[in-house]
Amino acid sequence: MHRSLPQHIAIILDGNGRWAKNRNLPRIQGHVIGAQRVKEIVTYCAKIGLPALTLFAFSTENWRRSKTEVAFLMRLLRRYIRGERENILNNNIVLRILGNQQSLPPIVADELADIVHVSQKNSGMKLNFALAYGGRDEIIRAARKLASSCQEGSLTPAGINEETFAEALDTVELPDPDLLIRTSGEKRISNFLLWQMAYTEMYYTDTLWPDFSVDHLEKAIEDFFRRDRRFGKVGEDFDGK
Ligand code: FPP
Repeated sequence: MHRSLPQHIAIILDGNGRWAKNRNLPRIQGHVIGAQRVKEIVTYCAKIGLPALTLFAFSTENWRRSKTEVAFLMRLLRRYIRGERENILNNNIVLRILGNQQSLPPIVADELADIVHVSQKNSGMKLNFALAYGGRDEIIRAARKLASSCQEGSLTPAGINEETFAEALDTVELPDPDLLIRTSGEKRISNFLLWQMAYTEMYYTDTLWPDFSVDHLEKAIEDFFRRDRRFGKVGEDFDGK
């Protein structure tokens, strides 16, 4: 059993709507409580010295939700960023946004741009919000960047390898996630970090995101400690039969 903390935890926040439905509350109430959980989990991860945390908060597919829900989520995000600005800076967090930022409304994009800029001087946990994010979209954007570099002559097709490809992704300079957590009982990747999760350990829990506490996270990390990670190699206890 290894005890070293994962270098990078990625979380698919899921189940806000069902949490609200179970209580006969409007869906948006689930998002409000979900945002509180985000605060707690982020603060805890920064405290334990986790190097990187990525939260999937809004996918490219989420634009298809009702206009009211999308608008509410965008306002909630802005409120979160405003409210957490000091916390992010005091906790030495470096914030980054993964995803197609051009598609975000200016009220959110501007607020984010500022905190992303200011937090770059920090040296602690890398906190990434995947917003308007889709793994395939990210891969296509990376392929376009590489194609442009080839066209300009700064890269040759033979120079495209795992390293140069990874550098063209939104996650440049981030370690691949060691652990993916998905709440609410769904067992899917749902277009999240498709390239980066080649060797990620998956942890699925029935707990809905608004109920996901620090205790649940500790349990997921304990579970990760028990995993035998071989990265395609043969384990030490494998006898060859
Ligand atoms: C998934 O639950 C959750 C979302 C699509 C939004 C996540 C957003 C937040 C937690 C709030 C703000 C985020 C940040 C980063 C501060 P769902 O609506 O898909 O739930 P359901 O599957 O039960 O309907």
